Amino acid sequence: MGNVSTYKEVWLRAMVTPSWFLDELAHAGSEHLDPGYVPGYDRKAGTDPADDLDVLRDLGLNETHTLVDLGAGTGTFALAAAPLCRRVIAVDVSPVMLARLRQRAAQSGIENIECVQGGFLSYEHQGAPADFVYSRHALHHLPDFWKAVALAHIAAILKTGGVLYLRDLVFSFEPDEATHAIETWLANAPEHAEQGWTRAELETHLREEYSTFSWLLEPMIEHAGFAIQSINHGASRVHSAYTCIKG
Ligand SMILES: C[S@@+](CC[C@H](N)C(=O)[O-])C[C@H]1O[C@@H](n2cnc3c(N)ncnc32)[C@H](O)[C@@H]1O
Repeated sequence: MGNVSTYKEVWLRAMVTPSWFLDELAHAGSEHLDPGYVPGYDRKAGTDPADDLDVLRDLGLNETHTLVDLGAGTGTFALAAAPLCRRVIAVDVSPVMLARLRQRAAQSGIENIECVQGGFLSYEHQGAPADFVYSRHALHHLPDFWKAVALAHIAAILKTGGVLYLRDLVFSFEPDEATHAIETWLANAPEHAEQGWTRAELETHLREEYSTFSWLLEPMIEHAGFAIQSINHGASRVHSAYTCIKG
């Protein structure tokens, strides 16, 4: 079983990263690189992976499968998925997030998670093509041009018929509704940072990161070679989840 050729290999052949290539670490969000922030991340995020696991199980995830989690963070989903899969590859640009993930895996006695420091663009998949790619709340670190490149890269990692389950902060409102939708979102933010993302943190996201409109992202997903099987735009119209099948 050969390695999957990445778009970078195709483009560059000589494995030289050009000076115009995006610096993924510089766009990772400084908090994700902060050893003072990461230990409190899981409590702040309060993520329950159960619903996402159900979705992937319903799509056929089983103990023969390889799942790649891109932007895995401290590994809440990767750790929950590992007992259901043969191989989980947890990829993140942040060495601090990955250190926490490794620690949690060791504490839980989970041995089939491989932690890889890499990004949506720079990760080089080894081994047979993946059956599933999962990514939650991470793709917004890339501007749209690089999102499209990343989606093509994800398609190259997956086998034909493989599944991309993508969740992110994606805006499913029209531009002229932006003020109302964003202000409603910000007004519902918790007051304290331990309870979630505060108004000030969400404002930083809006200024400095790259949430995109659903009506831009969806054609990008399809252009990368996926059929979108299901779309769930959250009621707040700032989160979306996509089940995508590689054609
Ligand atoms: C908000 S956290 C989400 C983590 C995890 N998926 C979760 O749902 O809890 C975003 C993660 O994306 C990672 N990240 C940022 N840019 C990335 C990139 N270009 N490639 C891979 N991971 C990236 C950050 O280091 C961080 O761990």
